[in-house]
Amino acid sequence: LAQAGAGSLPAAGAPAAPAELPTLTVLYGSQTGNAKGVAQQAAAAAEAAGLKVRCVSMGDYKPKDLKKETHVLITSCTQGEGDPPDDAIEFHAFLAGKKAPKLDGVKYSVLALGDSSYEFFCQTGKDFDERFAKLGATAIEPRVDCDVEYEEPAAGWIERAVAAMAKDMQAGVAQVTVSAAATPTATTSAYNKKNPFTATLETNQKITGRDSVKDIRHFEISLEGSGLTYQPGDSLGVWFRNDEKVVDEIIEKLGLDASANIEVDGEQVAVREALTRHYELTLSHPGFVSKYAEVTGNAELAKLAEDRQALRAYIDVRQIIDIIREHAAKISAEQLVSCLRRLTPRLYSIASSQAEVEEEVHLTVGVVRYDAFGEEHFGGASGFLAERLEEGGEVDVFVEHSHFRLPEDNSPVIMVGPGTGIAPFRAFVQEIDANERENETWLFFGNPTFTEDFLYQVEWQSYLKDGVLNKIDLAFSRDQAEKIYVQDRMLEKAAELWAWLEKGAYFYVCGDANRMAKDVHEALVTIVEQQGGKSREEAENYVSELRKNKRYQRDVY
Ligand code: 2AM
Repeated sequence: LAQAGAGSLPAAGAPAAPAELPTLTVLYGSQTGNAKGVAQQAAAAAEAAGLKVRCVSMGDYKPKDLKKETHVLITSCTQGEGDPPDDAIEFHAFLAGKKAPKLDGVKYSVLALGDSSYEFFCQTGKDFDERFAKLGATAIEPRVDCDVEYEEPAAGWIERAVAAMAKDMQAGVAQVTVSAAATPTATTSAYNKKNPFTATLETNQKITGRDSVKDIRHFEISLEGSGLTYQPGDSLGVWFRNDEKVVDEIIEKLGLDASANIEVDGEQVAVREALTRHYELTLSHPGFVSKYAEVTGNAELAKLAEDRQALRAYIDVRQIIDIIREHAAKISAEQLVSCLRRLTPRLYSIASSQAEVEEEVHLTVGVVRYDAFGEEHFGGASGFLAERLEEGGEVDVFVEHSHFRLPEDNSPVIMVGPGTGIAPFRAFVQEIDANERENETWLFFGNPTFTEDFLYQVEWQSYLKDGVLNKIDLAFSRDQAEKIYVQDRMLEKAAELWAWLEKGAYFYVCGDANRMAKDVHEALVTIVEQQGGKSREEAENYVSELRKNKRYQRDVY
């Protein structure tokens, strides 16, 4: 519910603000909802401080309104290679362009969300900060760059930035009160990220063939008794447990006292339990190397930590355990966890509709498994679900709501979902089928080979037969000498795809962000350009309009 629909946060319940006060505009660019959540908390804190507030997605904000602003707070996440999230793309481009207005006299502050294991950490937030400054605005509070565990630094930024804004806006007005307690924690259901539901894994089925290069699983999880609900397009958050073998090896290699307790969130937790449930042991990150070098006094790692590029190459191919294996030393559990990040749940696009499966939730998960340095390695959550959790076993989950949504009306639906990107489209088609919706549907799916990797083949064939799925185009990349990808199939069907767009179709993409989604975007613009007889710029504007009207939506990772 908290994520449903975009737009401005109503000022309901806020104390009436003096009429002469300017408005504080809180702008967010959000992909998974985190930046939006922080923006909404900032808006609520500002309202509680008696300010007049408008909280709006950058995707819904008219850039021309910038001229009227005096006080602006910005929150934004960053995508893969330093790109803005979808709803921020246009605003981001506008600020860099010739039409960007002078912002002299404007007070602003930026909160950037990111992941320091990526090279372009918090890049979009940095861009906003730089551009506002360049246009003449004044940072009223320094930008804060948040890593994966953003909640605490974000709360600190909210408190300081809102207080600074309030002071500036209400200069002379006495009753300004900002308290952290005013920050709401929008809880709408009994179970959420912090308080997950302990669900049961009912089915774990490999849906790629024996000779496939991939191991993709279909999981069915029971939510019975939780009261949790989800919509097609939402994600399931999975709290996983680290591999016991890895935990034991770390304890042994570092000579930790496994019977000792350490403090986690103010509670005493046994070392083994803490390492199993509370700390990230798979994904390594730059901070781990520098901190571990420090606590172990390892000069070699300390030197490596200074060379950004070498460090990136080093951590890219190593899990935490690999680094510990290479550089074992005697340290305490406290020292170890000071190097580690807290474990964060993994989000998977839900592959089912409750209209069809009721109290179940289905996932389509690619299992991360590879050999390196003579050892077998697993992904944190996918390894847990696929290899370590038995059918009937327990897994802590929660629902993460999304913007990725079927049209509200009966507009046609085009779905591009290669690989595990198929997941939300299985949910879409189940929903259309179960609710007897009339949307025309067209699926583009791709994977390495027809015989090994045609995910949910039988279901698609049956939906085609029943007319629930109207068209399917398949791109099996390795079934012939030259690669064929979903975007090649789109281009082959350019005229028809254009006709669908012109009759109001919604265009959805799910799957790999770095290559696939970029190439599919490119193909979409090309189709609009060629079939619509448009210039490149006109075609790009057409696609931008689609995005603004929620007719071009992406769920990419
Ligand atoms: P490949 O691995 O044979 O190159 C799902 O992973 C499918 O997406 C696979 O068939 C994979 O092909 C394909 N794929 C790889 N790169 C892609 C890209 N840039 N665009 C679209 N599909 C791609």
